[in-house]
Amino acid sequence: MFLKNKLLLSTAALVFCAGLSTQAMAHGDVTPQGVDTQGLDPLGEEWREENPYRPPYEKNAQAIKIGFSAYTQNCARCHGLEGISGGIAPDLRMLEAGLEGDEWYQYRVVNGAVRDGAVYMPKMADYLSQEALWAIRTWLESVSVDE
Ligand code: HEC
Repeated sequence: MFLKNKLLLSTAALVFCAGLSTQAMAHGDVTPQGVDTQGLDPLGEEWREENPYRPPYEKNAQAIKIGFSAYTQNCARCHGLEGISGGIAPDLRMLEAGLEGDEWYQYRVVNGAVRDGAVYMPKMADYLSQEALWAIRTWLESVSVDE
């Protein structure tokens, strides 16, 4: 009885997820959630090469907090709650730490991922500020499983 319920539940979850991702792929729909980055140093228009909020940045803890919330609202539906991927999109806790990871991270959030005209990941930098996106990267590094 219990097992059967569990099975039903996970089937429903699967169908739900499949629906979501098909929708995202078909239209690249994004409902961006505003991110309040007040308190973090403003970065201006030009993209930094390296995450400016990583230690020893004095407000690193605040960046992590903002980044976690921003991730949950804007990335988790594809990349998984708490950064733990359910398989729809890569597990971002495995991104490389440091400058190299920063470059790849920036490339993806600016360019998104489009294959054969299908949007797998929207250009998140069109919707979120550089401050919000580096805060997310800062949180991701705090839960990194890179090494
Ligand atoms: C609509 C679903 C979707 C959303 C929303 C989304 N992504 Fe993605 N993302 C993907 C997919 C799918 C890939 C894999 C693309 C590929 O390999 O072609 C990806 C790849 C990435 C990569 C490269 C990972 C790697 O290991 O190569 C990064 C970095 C990334 N996303 C960051 C983010 C961040 C940060 C957010 C939120 C601000 C976000 N994504 C929101 C679907 C999404």
